[in-house]
Amino acid sequence: MNFLGSHILSISQFDKNDVKELFRVADEMEPYAQRKMHTRVLDGAILGNLFFEPSTRTRVSFGCAFNLLGGQVRETTDIKASAITKGESLYDTARVISGYSDVIAMRHPVAGSVDEFSRASRVPVINAGDGPSEHPSQALLDLYTIKKELRIADELNGIRIAMVGDLKYGRTVHSLSKLLNLYDNITFTLISPAELKMPEEIVEIIRQRGNTVIETDDMESGLKDNDTVYLTRIQEERFEDRKEADIYRGRFRLNQAIYTSHCKPNTVIMHPLPRDSRAEANELDIDLNQHPSLAIFRQTDNGVLIRMALFVLTLGVQDMVHDSAVEVKWYTEKRF
Ligand code: NCD
Repeated sequence: MNFLGSHILSISQFDKNDVKELFRVADEMEPYAQRKMHTRVLDGAILGNLFFEPSTRTRVSFGCAFNLLGGQVRETTDIKASAITKGESLYDTARVISGYSDVIAMRHPVAGSVDEFSRASRVPVINAGDGPSEHPSQALLDLYTIKKELRIADELNGIRIAMVGDLKYGRTVHSLSKLLNLYDNITFTLISPAELKMPEEIVEIIRQRGNTVIETDDMESGLKDNDTVYLTRIQEERFEDRKEADIYRGRFRLNQAIYTSHCKPNTVIMHPLPRDSRAEANELDIDLNQHPSLAIFRQTDNGVLIRMALFVLTLGVQDMVHDSAVEVKWYTEKRF
């Protein structure tokens, strides 16, 4: 893919070289994300950060990533406070906001909406989650995290991952599955209730590429022999009847005791967050908070690097980031 000026809508746009290039740039963003250096490469640029669905880390990390590159952020966070509730079309919103911004990150509850929006936008649009469909920047930060955690320097062929929970509505696992499927010899163990299985078309593309899919509703056997276990929240907001979500909440949980008895030592523990920590759900228990294999907060830190890299590449400034770099005087070692 030629990143320059491209919309980032789906993992299907990426090949292995694109991922390699993105990760190379993400690595270079580290001194800036860690506040050792400061760059003003995007001085004067504006990010339109449009979130028409709840978000904390994705919205803030897109904003931070842009600020760390010297750009400004304008955002809308509440669908009720936006003109969409007055009947405005995605086309009109896109024409207007792309007149105000140089790049847009957008989250919307309807699958395909970000794609539709991007067709009317005059600046690059990054899909920050469209309903149950896709969440490409999350998948990229997840893959980046997996590589770092497993210390894989080159391509990550041969890994085994268990994905657990709501695989039907969880857009992060949809995008991550497509991304991992670029590599060879990957084993996906998909642990979910039968009603919340991974969509058939995704299972099909994985099998067609020669990778392995094991589907089960038995968590204990499914957890065995993986390099990574990726937990997800029951996406209650996607159910027609929210009460139906109660049936599945709390069905698959990982805690210290289950991890110790069923996971291979050092299995990396991941979750896109937010984890549902209510007693009736608790898919990832806080008793694992100090576990060295718990990567969830390294995932969120990596998200800033990946989103910086996406901005740098889509705006074509990858060779200029270091030109305007200055050392940060207020840097404190303690933070990282
Ligand atoms: C996820 C999402 O919005 O799809 N969160 C995130 O972006 N990190 C997962 C979720 O909401 O469960």
